Amino acid sequence: MMGGSEKLDIRNLSVERGGKPVLHDVSMTFLPGEITALIGANGAGKSTTVMSVAGALPVRNGEIMLGSSSLVGTSADRIRRSGVALVPEGHTVLRTLSVLDNLRAAASHLPHDKVNQAVDDALSLFPELSSRLHIPAGALSGGQKQMVLIAQAIISEPKFMLVDELSLGLAPVIVNRLADTLVELADEGMGIVLIEQFTSLALKIAKHAHVMERGRIVFSGESQELLDDHSILHSAYLA
Ligand SMILES: Nc1ncnc2c1ncn2[C@@H]1O[C@H](COP(=O)(O)OP(=O)(O)OP(=O)(O)O)[C@@H](O)[C@H]1O
Ligand SMILES: [Mg+2]
Repeated sequence: MMGGSEKLDIRNLSVERGGKPVLHDVSMTFLPGEITALIGANGAGKSTTVMSVAGALPVRNGEIMLGSSSLVGTSADRIRRSGVALVPEGHTVLRTLSVLDNLRAAASHLPHDKVNQAVDDALSLFPELSSRLHIPAGALSGGQKQMVLIAQAIISEPKFMLVDELSLGLAPVIVNRLADTLVELADEGMGIVLIEQFTSLALKIAKHAHVMERGRIVFSGESQELLDDHSILHSAYLA
């Protein structure tokens, strides 16, 4: 059983990077069982937002709540164990380790006798990895690396999965394949935050969307509103 009934709530979040303010008073809510798109131009602050939620960057001000628990000041490892998994930008597999060992590494928090089952469950979503389990993960195609990263996230049985750039550098057929998997996971109850350059794909599968511009939220609402009124996205991308 995946997901839960808790919301993931970002309230008035401010984050600095390199001593410079990057996020300014960002608030948004993500719901379980739904894909939510997080979109905006390069440098808008999308990765900074999800990295802050996942505990990879310190929060200067504001609150991040998973249900009634605050995630601020919690280690990245504990945040993952409490149910928030980040699929980071850039296909960052452990290149010299085998595909199987990459997956086992993501299951290291589980009791020994549960590891194989968790790995098998994750692999059932990506049968194309089954014949590649014993090759170094660095030798996989970009799409297969992304599958490994999503499988790793799934092994931690997250309530929320934060996917930073699903499609970067991948062929459209693979992207559609991965998008179908995200839809399936959301249908099972997982909340998914999807950062995506192809806004048309993201808006097609996301019920709600947030648009960022220079570290601020400039739109929060239903994806359909952005599809109906192109001026919002147009100004966010030209800003
Ligand atoms: N390591 C860093 N040190 C200092 N500033 C950074 C660092 N990484 C990003 N920034 C700054 O933070 C801001 C937001 O960057 P972020 O990577 O969150 O944007 P993004 O929306 O994910 O962009 P992209 O679409 O290019 O991935 C940018 O102005 C960027 O210059
Ligand atoms: Mg980014």
